[in-house]
Amino acid sequence: MVTGGAGFIGSHVVKLLAGKYPASKIVVFDALTYAGNLANLQELDGLDNYVFVKGDITDVDSVRRVLEEYGVDTILNLAAESHVDRSITDPLIFARTNVMGILTLLHAAREYWGDQLEGKLFYHISTDEVYGSLGFEDGPFTEQTPYSPRSPYSASKASSDHFVRAFGETYGMPIIISNCSNNYGPYQFPEKLIPLTVNNIRNGKPIPVYGKGENVRDWLYVGDHARAIDLIMNHGTPGETYNIGGDCEISNIEVVKTLIEITDRLLGRPEGASADLITFVKDRSGHDLRYAIDHSKLTRELGWRPATAFRDGIEHTVKWYLENSAWLKGVTSGEYLDYYTKMYASR
Ligand code: NAD
Ligand code: TYD
Repeated sequence: MVTGGAGFIGSHVVKLLAGKYPASKIVVFDALTYAGNLANLQELDGLDNYVFVKGDITDVDSVRRVLEEYGVDTILNLAAESHVDRSITDPLIFARTNVMGILTLLHAAREYWGDQLEGKLFYHISTDEVYGSLGFEDGPFTEQTPYSPRSPYSASKASSDHFVRAFGETYGMPIIISNCSNNYGPYQFPEKLIPLTVNNIRNGKPIPVYGKGENVRDWLYVGDHARAIDLIMNHGTPGETYNIGGDCEISNIEVVKTLIEITDRLLGRPEGASADLITFVKDRSGHDLRYAIDHSKLTRELGWRPATAFRDGIEHTVKWYLENSAWLKGVTSGEYLDYYTKMYASR
C-alpha cells in the first residue's frame, strides 16, 4: 500500500515498483488533493498488479477497509502536505494530514496486523527538514542530529517521525524511516522552486527568489530517491533510520541561473534572455538557511549512492516540463484546482 502514490515522489516510486515486482499487488491510496494527480500514474492503467483507491489517511474506516481487502503487508507512507509556504499560510491542515493522518495509519495497521508482525513493514518517508537549519560552516545532518524543526511543515513531519518510532518501541511494529533532501524531477507540482521557475521562464513571468537567494539545498534526482526507497524497503533493518541525499549543495540563485541557461537554450532564445526575470522578493519567514545530508550509512550498509549528476537530471527535468505543457496546464487550471487550492491562491 503506497499512500500519497499519486503525488510527485510517490508516483515515481509506484512506477518503479509496478515494473519491478509484477507478482506483487501495489495499492495506491491517495486523497487526490491539489498535489495528487492520476495523470502521474496514467501509464500504469490496465496493469494487473496495480490498483488505485481514492481515500484519506485521516479516515480510519477507509484505511481499515483497504488493509483488509488487499491483505496489506507493507505500507509505504508518502501521503503528506509537503509545501513549506502553504504550511506558513495554513498550518492546521499540516497537523491534520501529517500528524493525525500518520497516527491513523499506524493505529489501523497495528489493529490489522495484531501480533502477526513477521513480514510486515511500516515504512515512513520523511524529510531532512526535521533536523532544522545548518550554518554555512556546519557539517551535514547525520541520523544522530537532534530534531529541530523550524517551520509548521517540518514540525508536522518531525511529529509523524516521532509517532512512527513510538509505535516501533511501544508495540514492536516493524518500522523504518528515511529522511531525504530536496527532490527534483518530472511531475513535481509547480509551486516548488524548480518547476515554478521553469514555468515562469517559459511564460516570461517574474521568478521570485526569496531573500538574497543564498539559501542552500542538497538536490537529489527523484529517480534516485525512488531507488533508495525500494532498496530500504527490501533490505533496510526494521527500527532504523536512513538519511538520503544528493551530495549536491547549491544555492537557490545558482539553481535559478542554471534553469535560465537551460530553459532559454531549449526554447531557442538568446543566452541570458530571461535573466531579468529574476526578482528578489521578501524572504520566507523562518527560512532555513542550509540543508546538507550525510548519507554514508545508507551507502555503507546498502550500497546506495546518488547516480544522476545534477547537470543531467536538471537538463532532463527542464526538457520534460517544456514537452509536457498539457500536464502543467492541467495541474494549474481552474478546473483542476480544488477548494483548498483556490482558497490558497486567493490570499
Ligand atoms: P506531494 O505534495 O507531491 O504529494 C503528496 C501526495 O499525498 C499527493 O498525491 C496527495 O494527494 C496525497 N495526500 C495528501 N494528503 C492526503 C491525505 N490526507 N490522505 C491521502 N493522501 C493524501 O509530495 P512529495 O513531494 O511527493 O512528497 C512525498 C513525501 O516525501 C512527503 O512525505 C514529503 O514530506 C517527503 N519528502 C519530500 C521531498 C521533496 O523534495 N519533495 C523531500 C524529502 C521528503
Ligand atoms: P521549495 O522548493 O519550496 O522547497 P523547500 O522549502 O522544502 O526547501 O524551496 C526551495 C528553496 O527555494 C527554498 O530555500 C525556498 C526557495 N524558493 C524561492 O526562493 N522562491 C520560490 O518561489 C520558492 C517556491 C522557493
